[in-house]
Amino acid sequence: MTSHPASLAIRVPGDKSISHRALICAALASGRSRIRNILPSADVHSTAGVLRALGVTIPPLGHDVRVDGRGLGALEAASEPLDCGNSGTTARLMTGVLSGHQFASRLIGDASLSRRPMARVARPLEAMGARFTFEDGDHLPMVVTGGQLRSIDWPSPTASAQVKSAILFAGLVARVPVSVTEPIRSRDHTERMLASLGVEIRSCGGEASLTPASELPSFQIDVPADPSSAAFLAALAAAGGVGSGTPVALTDVALNPTRLGFFRTLRDMGADVEWEVEREECGEPVGTITVTARGLRAVRVAGQDVPAMIDELPLLACLATRADGETEIRGASELRVKESDRIAAVVANLRAVGADADELPDGLRVRGPTLSLGGQVRVHGDHRLAMAFGVLGALSGDAIVVDDPDCVSVSYPGFWSDLARLTDE
Ligand code: S3P
Repeated sequence: MTSHPASLAIRVPGDKSISHRALICAALASGRSRIRNILPSADVHSTAGVLRALGVTIPPLGHDVRVDGRGLGALEAASEPLDCGNSGTTARLMTGVLSGHQFASRLIGDASLSRRPMARVARPLEAMGARFTFEDGDHLPMVVTGGQLRSIDWPSPTASAQVKSAILFAGLVARVPVSVTEPIRSRDHTERMLASLGVEIRSCGGEASLTPASELPSFQIDVPADPSSAAFLAALAAAGGVGSGTPVALTDVALNPTRLGFFRTLRDMGADVEWEVEREECGEPVGTITVTARGLRAVRVAGQDVPAMIDELPLLACLATRADGETEIRGASELRVKESDRIAAVVANLRAVGADADELPDGLRVRGPTLSLGGQVRVHGDHRLAMAFGVLGALSGDAIVVDDPDCVSVSYPGFWSDLARLTDE
């Protein structure tokens, strides 16, 4: 391990995407798996709850979780609806898993998840032979009835790791070859985890193909810290929000290149951002990101850059208020179907606190710098909006009140205390 004597070291909680996948793979594996440092957040609790309802024994999510896998295709029909809470990843990945099981499951979610599109997973899985019924449009509640699936080669119109993973999990469980091609490559955690477990997965450009495996072996994983959570503290450091101005070292972070778009952009904005790989965990590079404040300039983000920083775009928009010039984010219409319409909500809130921002159909523009922003923001229960405006409010001269601070528990339960620790430093 590298030591960082001149920096403030902080390890944010475990990666959300990897935590979901670790639970799902452990449930489908043969034998007992061990997951250390799983993210104990509301979304990951949703995946654990759904898997428990399907007959998997999972203890309360602590520092060291052991899961007795049931083997491929051996989940049991649930007696109750499967509650995915606020979690799109739970709903979509589990829909793929359930498509390979020959029983019907009813998936439900909270008000936000019940507005999010499910046709993107239902269409390919239907083409493979699963059946879907919706009560309203293509939203939850939804019933998925799995069966004997056919192989598929799916051209996905959207770059979505959730869609890609649903298809890969369906192929894995039903033991049929599958292939998905995306317009731009999305995060590849499913491919890396399955490949590290010996499944034959080929990734080339935007295409991922899986060759069926007879079983999934049990495994051990120490879940690395979440770069999307680390991004909030990195933004604070880059904008000079750490009390003493000391560089911040974000340790043990997943450094998967499909997740580092925000850190590359922060560098383009003029911040001093370095990262170094120190170990590998189930196919994921892991290491430290160090961020030092510098004057920030505006930046342009377009389609190709978007998937690698999709969850960080609200934060980038907030940070752009501190950058010199006009920041533009385009090709990001996916933001409209996240936990909230993140384009509309970010722009409305930026304006409400006095920033200069415009909404575009597929993105937004922010002109900076604007200092002394103040007022209340409405985050619509969206964790990433709460944290993005939390960081903005922590910068000197700003006074921002987040209407629903507790919703950060969806992905980063200790966010407010970590933020306070750095700002008070
Ligand atoms: C996720 C994929 C992304 C991301 C979400 C988590 C995942 O969604 O926004 O927070 O774990 O696969 P899409 O793949 O739908 O863009």
